[in-house]
Amino acid sequence: MPKPIRVGIVGCGNAAVFHYASFRRVTGIPVQVTGVTSLQKSRREEFAARQGIRAFDSLADLLSEVDVIDNCTPGYAHESVAIAALEAGKHVIVEKPFTGYYGPPGDGAFEGNRFPKETMLAEALSSSRRIIAAARKNQRKLCYAENWIYAPVVQKEAEILAKGKGQILWALGGQSHSGSPSPAYGIWKLSGGGSVVGKSCHPLSALLYLKQVEGETLYGKPVRPRTVSARTHEITRTPAFVSKGFLRTDYTDIEDYCQIHLTFEDGMVADIFASEIVMGGVHNWLELFANNHRARCNMSPCNAMELYNPQEGQLSGVYLMEKLGTKQGWSNPAPDEYSTFGYPQEIQDFVEAIAADRQPKSGMLVASDTVGALYAAYVSAERRGAEVEIPLDPILGA
Ligand SMILES: NC(=O)c1ccc[n+]([C@@H]2O[C@H](COP(=O)([O-])OP(=O)(O)OC[C@H]3O[C@@H](n4cnc5c(N)ncnc54)[C@H](O)[C@@H]3O)[C@@H](O)[C@H]2O)c1
Repeated sequence: MPKPIRVGIVGCGNAAVFHYASFRRVTGIPVQVTGVTSLQKSRREEFAARQGIRAFDSLADLLSEVDVIDNCTPGYAHESVAIAALEAGKHVIVEKPFTGYYGPPGDGAFEGNRFPKETMLAEALSSSRRIIAAARKNQRKLCYAENWIYAPVVQKEAEILAKGKGQILWALGGQSHSGSPSPAYGIWKLSGGGSVVGKSCHPLSALLYLKQVEGETLYGKPVRPRTVSARTHEITRTPAFVSKGFLRTDYTDIEDYCQIHLTFEDGMVADIFASEIVMGGVHNWLELFANNHRARCNMSPCNAMELYNPQEGQLSGVYLMEKLGTKQGWSNPAPDEYSTFGYPQEIQDFVEAIAADRQPKSGMLVASDTVGALYAAYVSAERRGAEVEIPLDPILGA
Protein backbone atom coordinates (compact mmCIF):
# COMPACT_ATOMS: atom_id res chain seq x y z
CA MET A 1 0.00 0.00 0.00
CA PRO A 2 1.62 3.31 -1.03
CA LYS A 3 1.95 6.05 1.57
CA PRO A 4 -1.01 8.47 1.54
CA ILE A 5 -0.65 11.86 -0.08
CA ARG A 6 -0.83 14.28 2.85
CA VAL A 7 -2.83 17.48 2.33
CA GLY A 8 -2.91 20.68 4.35
CA ILE A 9 -5.80 23.11 3.86
CA VAL A 10 -5.19 26.84 4.24
CA GLY A 11 -8.40 28.70 5.12
CA CYS A 12 -11.43 27.20 6.85
CA GLY A 13 -14.36 29.03 5.24
CA ASN A 14 -16.90 27.93 2.65
CA ALA A 15 -14.39 26.64 0.07
CA ALA A 16 -12.47 24.61 2.68
CA VAL A 17 -15.71 22.79 3.57
CA PHE A 18 -16.35 21.47 0.05
CA HIS A 19 -12.66 20.82 -0.60
CA TYR A 20 -12.45 18.71 2.55
CA ALA A 21 -15.62 16.81 1.62
CA SER A 22 -14.15 16.19 -1.85
CA PHE A 23 -10.88 14.80 -0.47
CA ARG A 24 -13.00 12.33 1.51
CA ARG A 25 -14.53 11.11 -1.78
CA VAL A 26 -11.22 10.41 -3.57
CA THR A 27 -10.97 6.80 -4.74
CA GLY A 28 -8.06 4.63 -5.89
CA ILE A 29 -5.28 6.72 -4.35
CA PRO A 30 -4.66 6.99 -0.62
CA VAL A 31 -5.01 10.60 0.49
CA GLN A 32 -5.20 12.08 3.93
CA VAL A 33 -6.10 15.62 4.98
CA THR A 34 -3.59 16.17 7.75
CA GLY A 35 -4.61 19.57 9.03
CA VAL A 36 -5.75 23.12 8.52
CA THR A 37 -4.47 26.61 9.24
CA SER A 38 -6.26 29.95 8.98
CA LEU A 39 -6.20 33.43 10.48
CA GLN A 40 -8.53 32.86 13.44
CA LYS A 41 -7.49 30.27 16.01
CA SER A 42 -11.03 29.56 17.29
CA ARG A 43 -12.40 29.05 13.76
CA ARG A 44 -9.61 26.71 12.60
CA GLU A 45 -9.83 24.70 15.83
CA GLU A 46 -13.56 24.36 15.42
CA PHE A 47 -13.14 23.30 11.74
CA ALA A 48 -10.38 20.83 12.67
CA ALA A 49 -12.40 19.32 15.52
CA ARG A 50 -15.44 18.89 13.28
CA GLN A 51 -13.40 17.05 10.64
CA GLY A 52 -11.14 15.13 13.01
CA ILE A 53 -7.95 16.74 11.69
CA ARG A 54 -5.22 18.89 13.30
CA ALA A 55 -5.26 22.68 13.58
CA PHE A 56 -1.90 24.34 12.86
CA ASP A 57 -1.00 27.81 14.12
CA SER A 58 0.90 28.79 10.98
CA LEU A 59 1.49 27.91 7.35
CA ALA A 60 5.13 27.15 8.21
CA ASP A 61 4.05 24.51 10.76
CA LEU A 62 1.59 22.96 8.30
CA LEU A 63 4.16 22.87 5.47
CA SER A 64 6.46 20.56 7.39
CA GLU A 65 3.74 17.90 7.70
CA VAL A 66 2.21 17.71 4.20
CA ASP A 67 2.88 17.01 0.51
CA VAL A 68 0.14 19.26 -0.90
CA ILE A 69 -1.17 22.69 0.12
CA ASP A 70 -4.80 23.33 -0.74
CA ASN A 71 -5.12 27.11 -0.87
CA CYS A 72 -8.67 28.07 0.18
CA THR A 73 -7.87 31.64 1.23
CA PRO A 74 -9.38 34.78 -0.34
CA GLY A 75 -7.63 35.92 -3.53
CA TYR A 76 -5.27 38.41 -1.87
CA ALA A 77 -3.40 35.54 -0.15
CA HIS A 78 -3.26 33.16 -3.13
CA GLU A 79 0.18 34.23 -4.38
CA SER A 80 1.94 34.41 -1.01
CA VAL A 81 0.58 31.06 0.20
CA ALA A 82 1.18 29.33 -3.17
CA ILE A 83 4.77 30.55 -3.52
CA ALA A 84 5.66 29.70 0.10
CA ALA A 85 4.32 26.18 -0.47
CA LEU A 86 5.99 25.69 -3.86
CA GLU A 87 9.34 26.93 -2.54
CA ALA A 88 8.97 24.41 0.29
CA GLY A 89 8.61 21.69 -2.38
CA LYS A 90 4.86 21.15 -2.00
CA HIS A 91 2.28 20.68 -4.74
CA VAL A 92 -0.33 23.42 -4.71
CA ILE A 93 -4.06 23.66 -5.37
CA VAL A 94 -5.28 27.25 -5.78
CA GLU A 95 -8.94 28.23 -5.59
CA LYS A 96 -10.34 30.78 -8.02
CA PRO A 97 -9.42 33.54 -8.66
CA PHE A 98 -5.95 32.17 -9.42
CA THR A 99 -4.49 35.56 -8.51
CA GLY A 100 -5.16 39.24 -9.23
CA TYR A 101 -4.46 42.76 -8.08
CA TYR A 102 -5.11 43.80 -4.48
CA GLY A 103 -3.76 47.34 -4.27
CA PRO A 104 -0.41 48.92 -3.45
CA PRO A 105 0.96 47.30 -0.26
CA GLY A 106 0.00 49.29 2.82
CA ASP A 107 -2.28 51.75 0.96
CA GLY A 108 -5.28 52.02 3.31
CA ALA A 109 -7.08 54.41 0.94
CA PHE A 110 -7.04 51.97 -2.01
CA GLU A 111 -10.37 51.68 -3.81
CA GLY A 112 -10.30 49.06 -6.55
CA ASN A 113 -13.15 50.48 -8.58
CA ARG A 114 -11.27 53.79 -8.97
CA PHE A 115 -7.74 52.45 -9.45
CA PRO A 116 -6.13 52.50 -12.96
CA LYS A 117 -6.92 49.19 -14.59
CA GLU A 118 -3.90 48.95 -16.88
CA THR A 119 -1.69 48.85 -13.79
CA MET A 120 -3.95 46.17 -12.34
CA LEU A 121 -3.70 44.08 -15.51
CA ALA A 122 0.10 44.29 -15.60
CA GLU A 123 0.44 43.49 -11.88
CA ALA A 124 -2.07 40.63 -11.96
CA LEU A 125 -0.20 39.02 -14.85
CA SER A 126 3.13 39.46 -13.05
CA SER A 127 1.63 37.74 -10.03
CA SER A 128 0.39 34.86 -12.19
CA ARG A 129 3.83 34.50 -13.80
CA ARG A 130 5.56 34.46 -10.39
CA ILE A 131 3.38 31.57 -9.20
CA ILE A 132 3.87 29.62 -12.42
CA ALA A 133 7.64 30.23 -12.35
CA ALA A 134 7.81 28.92 -8.76
CA ALA A 135 5.92 25.76 -9.77
CA ARG A 136 8.25 25.18 -12.73
CA LYS A 137 11.44 25.88 -10.78
CA ASN A 138 10.46 23.50 -8.00
CA GLN A 139 8.93 20.97 -10.40
CA ARG A 140 5.71 20.77 -8.42
CA LYS A 141 2.14 20.47 -9.69
CA LEU A 142 0.04 23.61 -9.87
CA CYS A 143 -3.67 22.79 -9.85
CA TYR A 144 -6.15 25.57 -10.56
CA ALA A 145 -9.37 24.77 -8.72
CA GLU A 146 -11.86 25.81 -11.40
CA ASN A 147 -14.60 23.34 -10.61
CA TRP A 148 -16.72 24.17 -13.70
CA ILE A 149 -14.11 22.42 -15.84
CA TYR A 150 -14.96 19.21 -14.00
CA ALA A 151 -18.74 19.64 -13.96
CA PRO A 152 -20.23 16.57 -15.70
CA VAL A 153 -22.06 18.77 -18.23
CA VAL A 154 -18.79 20.50 -19.24
CA GLN A 155 -16.90 17.21 -19.44
CA LYS A 156 -19.71 15.77 -21.60
CA GLU A 157 -19.48 18.77 -23.92
CA ALA A 158 -15.68 18.28 -24.07
CA GLU A 159 -16.22 14.68 -25.18
CA ILE A 160 -18.84 15.74 -27.78
CA LEU A 161 -16.45 18.39 -29.12
CA ALA A 162 -13.44 16.11 -29.28
CA LYS A 163 -15.13 13.00 -30.74
CA GLY A 164 -17.41 15.02 -33.03
CA LYS A 165 -14.52 17.31 -34.12
CA GLY A 166 -16.78 20.31 -33.55
CA GLN A 167 -15.91 23.98 -33.56
CA ILE A 168 -17.58 26.38 -31.09
CA LEU A 169 -18.75 29.43 -33.06
CA TRP A 170 -20.48 31.28 -30.24
CA ALA A 171 -20.69 30.54 -26.54
CA LEU A 172 -22.99 32.14 -24.03
CA GLY A 173 -22.95 31.68 -20.29
CA GLY A 174 -23.02 33.07 -16.85
CA GLN A 175 -22.90 32.77 -13.13
CA SER A 176 -25.10 34.88 -10.89
CA HIS A 177 -26.61 34.74 -7.43
CA SER A 178 -27.69 36.98 -4.57
CA GLY A 179 -24.23 37.59 -3.08
CA SER A 180 -21.22 35.65 -1.74
CA PRO A 181 -21.27 34.65 1.95
CA SER A 182 -17.54 35.44 2.35
CA PRO A 183 -16.86 38.59 4.40
CA ALA A 184 -13.78 39.18 2.19
CA TYR A 185 -15.93 39.43 -0.93
CA GLY A 186 -16.91 43.02 -1.63
CA ILE A 187 -13.57 44.50 -0.56
CA TRP A 188 -11.26 44.70 -3.59
CA LYS A 189 -8.01 44.54 -1.60
CA LEU A 190 -9.11 41.08 -0.35
CA SER A 191 -11.09 39.69 -3.31
CA GLY A 192 -9.35 41.31 -6.30
CA GLY A 193 -12.63 42.57 -7.78
CA GLY A 194 -16.33 41.75 -7.94
CA SER A 195 -18.53 39.91 -10.43
CA VAL A 196 -15.75 39.89 -13.05
CA VAL A 197 -13.14 37.98 -11.02
CA GLY A 198 -15.49 36.34 -8.55
CA LYS A 199 -18.18 34.96 -10.85
CA SER A 200 -17.53 35.39 -14.57
CA CYS A 201 -14.30 33.45 -13.97
CA HIS A 202 -16.36 30.23 -13.82
CA PRO A 203 -18.04 30.26 -17.26
CA LEU A 204 -14.94 31.93 -18.73
CA SER A 205 -12.50 29.25 -17.52
CA ALA A 206 -14.86 26.45 -18.58
CA LEU A 207 -15.05 27.98 -22.03
CA LEU A 208 -11.27 28.50 -22.26
CA TYR A 209 -10.92 24.82 -21.40
CA LEU A 210 -13.42 23.79 -24.10
CA LYS A 211 -11.59 25.92 -26.70
CA GLN A 212 -8.37 24.19 -25.60
CA VAL A 213 -9.97 20.78 -26.14
CA GLU A 214 -11.34 21.92 -29.51
CA GLY A 215 -7.99 23.37 -30.60
CA GLU A 216 -5.99 20.34 -29.54
CA THR A 217 -8.38 18.09 -31.50
CA LEU A 218 -8.48 20.20 -34.68
CA TYR A 219 -5.05 21.87 -34.81
CA GLY A 220 -2.86 20.13 -32.21
CA LYS A 221 -2.76 23.25 -30.00
CA PRO A 222 -5.26 25.19 -27.87
CA VAL A 223 -7.39 27.99 -29.32
CA ARG A 224 -6.71 30.92 -26.98
CA PRO A 225 -8.67 34.11 -26.27
CA ARG A 226 -7.59 37.24 -28.17
CA THR A 227 -9.65 40.30 -27.20
CA VAL A 228 -12.27 41.38 -24.71
CA SER A 229 -14.91 44.13 -24.52
CA ALA A 230 -16.67 44.56 -21.18
CA ARG A 231 -19.05 46.68 -19.12
CA THR A 232 -19.30 46.64 -15.34
CA HIS A 233 -21.88 48.30 -13.07
CA GLU A 234 -22.46 48.86 -9.35
CA ILE A 235 -26.20 48.35 -9.37
CA THR A 236 -26.79 47.94 -5.62
CA ARG A 237 -24.89 51.19 -5.00
CA THR A 238 -26.70 53.38 -7.51
CA PRO A 239 -28.63 56.11 -5.65
CA ALA A 240 -31.98 54.92 -7.02
CA PHE A 241 -31.54 51.30 -5.86
CA VAL A 242 -34.05 50.23 -3.18
CA SER A 243 -33.05 47.26 -1.05
CA LYS A 244 -35.86 44.88 -0.13
CA GLY A 245 -33.50 42.74 1.94
CA PHE A 246 -33.10 39.83 -0.48
CA LEU A 247 -29.73 40.76 -2.01
CA ARG A 248 -26.38 41.35 -0.34
CA THR A 249 -25.61 45.08 -0.56
CA ASP A 250 -22.60 45.80 1.68
CA TYR A 251 -19.98 45.93 -1.09
CA THR A 252 -17.39 48.67 -0.73
CA ASP A 253 -15.52 49.05 -4.02
CA ILE A 254 -16.47 46.19 -6.36
CA GLU A 255 -18.86 45.84 -9.30
CA ASP A 256 -21.98 43.68 -8.88
CA TYR A 257 -22.76 43.20 -12.58
CA CYS A 258 -20.66 42.54 -15.67
CA GLN A 259 -20.99 41.50 -19.27
CA ILE A 260 -17.94 40.38 -21.21
CA HIS A 261 -17.63 39.83 -24.96
CA LEU A 262 -14.62 37.73 -26.01
CA THR A 263 -13.05 36.93 -29.34
CA PHE A 264 -10.75 33.97 -29.86
CA GLU A 265 -7.75 33.60 -32.14
CA ASP A 266 -9.89 31.50 -34.54
CA GLY A 267 -12.27 34.47 -34.88
CA MET A 268 -15.08 32.87 -32.84
CA VAL A 269 -16.90 34.71 -30.04
CA ALA A 270 -18.40 34.38 -26.56
CA ASP A 271 -20.63 36.45 -24.27
CA ILE A 272 -20.48 36.01 -20.53
CA PHE A 273 -22.67 37.56 -17.83
CA ALA A 274 -22.19 37.59 -14.07
CA SER A 275 -23.90 39.41 -11.23
CA GLU A 276 -24.79 39.56 -7.57
CA ILE A 277 -28.42 40.57 -8.15
CA VAL A 278 -30.14 37.30 -9.05
CA MET A 279 -32.58 35.50 -6.72
CA GLY A 280 -33.96 31.98 -6.91
CA GLY A 281 -30.74 30.01 -6.39
CA VAL A 282 -27.32 30.13 -7.97
CA HIS A 283 -27.64 30.40 -11.75
CA ASN A 284 -24.81 28.49 -13.46
CA TRP A 285 -25.15 27.89 -17.18
CA LEU A 286 -23.29 27.63 -20.46
CA GLU A 287 -24.72 27.36 -23.98
CA LEU A 288 -22.57 26.35 -26.94
CA PHE A 289 -23.43 27.00 -30.57
CA ALA A 290 -21.04 24.84 -32.58
CA ASN A 291 -20.71 24.11 -36.30
CA ASN A 292 -22.07 20.60 -35.77
CA HIS A 293 -24.13 20.75 -32.57
CA ARG A 294 -25.76 22.98 -29.98
CA ALA A 295 -25.57 22.25 -26.25
CA ARG A 296 -27.14 23.74 -23.13
CA CYS A 297 -25.16 22.95 -20.01
CA ASN A 298 -27.47 23.60 -17.04
CA MET A 299 -25.53 23.26 -13.82
CA SER A 300 -27.96 25.15 -11.62
CA PRO A 301 -30.90 25.10 -11.54
CA CYS A 302 -30.87 21.57 -12.87
CA ASN A 303 -34.23 19.88 -13.28
CA ALA A 304 -33.18 16.36 -12.28
CA MET A 305 -35.76 16.85 -9.49
CA GLU A 306 -38.82 19.08 -9.34
CA LEU A 307 -40.29 19.63 -5.89
CA TYR A 308 -43.43 21.34 -4.65
CA ASN A 309 -43.32 22.12 -0.92
CA PRO A 310 -46.48 23.72 0.50
CA GLN A 311 -44.91 24.73 3.83
CA GLU A 312 -41.47 26.31 4.40
CA GLY A 313 -40.85 24.98 7.92
CA GLN A 314 -41.27 21.27 7.24
CA LEU A 315 -38.02 21.18 5.20
CA SER A 316 -35.93 23.23 7.61
CA GLY A 317 -33.42 20.39 8.00
CA VAL A 318 -33.20 19.57 4.27
CA TYR A 319 -30.62 21.18 1.95
CA LEU A 320 -32.13 21.85 -1.48
CA MET A 321 -29.89 24.12 -3.56
CA GLU A 322 -27.24 26.84 -3.18
CA LYS A 323 -28.73 30.29 -2.46
CA LEU A 324 -32.32 29.18 -3.01
CA GLY A 325 -33.77 31.78 -0.62
CA THR A 326 -37.03 29.96 0.16
CA LYS A 327 -38.06 26.30 0.27
CA GLN A 328 -41.75 27.06 -0.17
CA GLY A 329 -43.40 26.45 -3.54
CA TRP A 330 -41.73 24.88 -6.55
CA SER A 331 -37.96 24.28 -6.59
CA ASN A 332 -35.28 22.12 -8.25
CA PRO A 333 -33.39 20.43 -5.41
CA ALA A 334 -29.88 19.35 -6.44
CA PRO A 335 -29.59 15.66 -5.49
CA ASP A 336 -25.75 15.88 -5.32
CA GLU A 337 -24.80 19.51 -5.83
CA TYR A 338 -21.09 19.03 -5.12
CA SER A 339 -20.90 16.51 -7.92
CA THR A 340 -23.03 18.61 -10.32
CA PHE A 341 -20.60 21.49 -9.71
CA GLY A 342 -17.55 19.25 -10.24
CA TYR A 343 -15.94 19.60 -6.81
CA PRO A 344 -15.13 15.92 -6.11
CA GLN A 345 -14.11 15.27 -9.74
CA GLU A 346 -11.73 18.25 -9.56
CA ILE A 347 -10.01 17.00 -6.39
CA GLN A 348 -9.87 13.45 -7.82
CA ASP A 349 -8.06 14.79 -10.93
CA PHE A 350 -5.62 16.82 -8.83
CA VAL A 351 -4.74 13.84 -6.63
CA GLU A 352 -4.34 11.60 -9.70
CA ALA A 353 -2.19 14.23 -11.44
CA ILE A 354 0.10 14.45 -8.42
CA ALA A 355 0.31 10.66 -8.03
CA ALA A 356 0.93 10.03 -11.75
CA ASP A 357 3.19 13.06 -12.32
CA ARG A 358 0.98 14.46 -15.08
CA GLN A 359 -0.67 17.85 -15.61
CA PRO A 360 -4.21 18.35 -14.23
CA LYS A 361 -7.03 19.20 -16.66
CA SER A 362 -7.27 22.59 -14.98
CA GLY A 363 -3.72 23.86 -14.70
CA MET A 364 -1.40 26.74 -15.54
CA LEU A 365 -2.68 27.56 -19.02
CA VAL A 366 -6.32 28.05 -18.12
CA ALA A 367 -5.34 29.83 -14.88
CA SER A 368 -3.02 32.26 -16.65
CA ASP A 369 -5.38 32.98 -19.58
CA THR A 370 -8.25 33.56 -17.13
CA VAL A 371 -6.25 36.18 -15.21
CA GLY A 372 -5.28 37.93 -18.47
CA ALA A 373 -8.84 37.92 -19.83
CA LEU A 374 -10.48 39.10 -16.59
CA TYR A 375 -8.14 42.02 -15.94
CA ALA A 376 -8.21 42.99 -19.62
CA ALA A 377 -12.00 43.07 -19.15
CA TYR A 378 -11.51 45.64 -16.38
CA VAL A 379 -9.37 47.75 -18.73
CA SER A 380 -12.14 47.57 -21.32
CA ALA A 381 -14.83 48.46 -18.76
CA GLU A 382 -12.76 51.48 -17.70
CA ARG A 383 -12.90 52.52 -21.39
CA ARG A 384 -16.68 51.86 -21.44
CA GLY A 385 -16.49 48.73 -23.52
CA ALA A 386 -13.65 49.41 -25.99
CA GLU A 387 -11.98 46.26 -27.35
CA VAL A 388 -8.75 45.34 -25.50
CA GLU A 389 -6.11 42.76 -26.48
CA ILE A 390 -5.66 40.01 -23.90
CA PRO A 391 -1.95 39.72 -23.04
CA LEU A 392 -1.17 36.00 -23.00
CA ASP A 393 1.79 34.21 -21.49
CA PRO A 394 3.70 33.18 -24.65
CA ILE A 395 5.46 30.29 -22.93
CA LEU A 396 2.20 28.55 -22.12
CA GLY A 397 0.11 26.75 -24.72
CA ALA A 398 2.83 26.70 -27.37
N1 LIG B 1 -15.11 27.33 -6.68
C1 LIG B 1 -16.11 27.79 -6.00
O1 LIG B 1 -17.27 27.48 -6.26
C2 LIG B 1 -15.84 28.69 -4.82
C3 LIG B 1 -16.86 28.91 -3.88
C4 LIG B 1 -16.54 29.71 -2.78
C5 LIG B 1 -15.29 30.27 -2.66
N2 LIG B 1 -14.35 30.06 -3.61
C6 LIG B 1 -13.01 30.66 -3.49
O2 LIG B 1 -12.35 30.09 -2.37
C7 LIG B 1 -11.57 31.07 -1.70
C8 LIG B 1 -12.04 31.18 -0.26
O3 LIG B 1 -13.40 31.59 -0.26
P1 LIG B 1 -14.33 31.35 1.04
O4 LIG B 1 -15.71 31.66 0.60
O5 LIG B 1 -14.02 30.04 1.66
O6 LIG B 1 -13.77 32.55 1.96
P2 LIG B 1 -14.00 32.78 3.52
O7 LIG B 1 -13.83 34.23 3.73
O8 LIG B 1 -15.25 32.08 3.96
O9 LIG B 1 -12.77 31.99 4.21
C9 LIG B 1 -11.45 32.36 3.99
C10 LIG B 1 -10.53 31.62 4.95
O10 LIG B 1 -9.18 31.95 4.63
C11 LIG B 1 -8.47 32.31 5.83
N3 LIG B 1 -7.39 33.24 5.47
C12 LIG B 1 -7.49 34.48 4.96
N4 LIG B 1 -6.25 35.00 4.74
C13 LIG B 1 -5.37 34.05 5.14
C14 LIG B 1 -3.96 33.99 5.18
N5 LIG B 1 -3.21 35.01 4.77
N6 LIG B 1 -3.38 32.86 5.66
C15 LIG B 1 -4.13 31.82 6.11
N7 LIG B 1 -5.48 31.83 6.08
C16 LIG B 1 -6.09 32.92 5.61
C17 LIG B 1 -9.55 32.93 6.70
O11 LIG B 1 -9.12 32.93 8.06
C18 LIG B 1 -10.73 32.02 6.41
O12 LIG B 1 -10.65 30.85 7.21
C19 LIG B 1 -11.75 32.38 -2.49
O13 LIG B 1 -10.66 32.54 -3.36
C20 LIG B 1 -13.04 32.16 -3.25
O14 LIG B 1 -13.09 32.88 -4.46
C21 LIG B 1 -14.60 29.25 -4.66
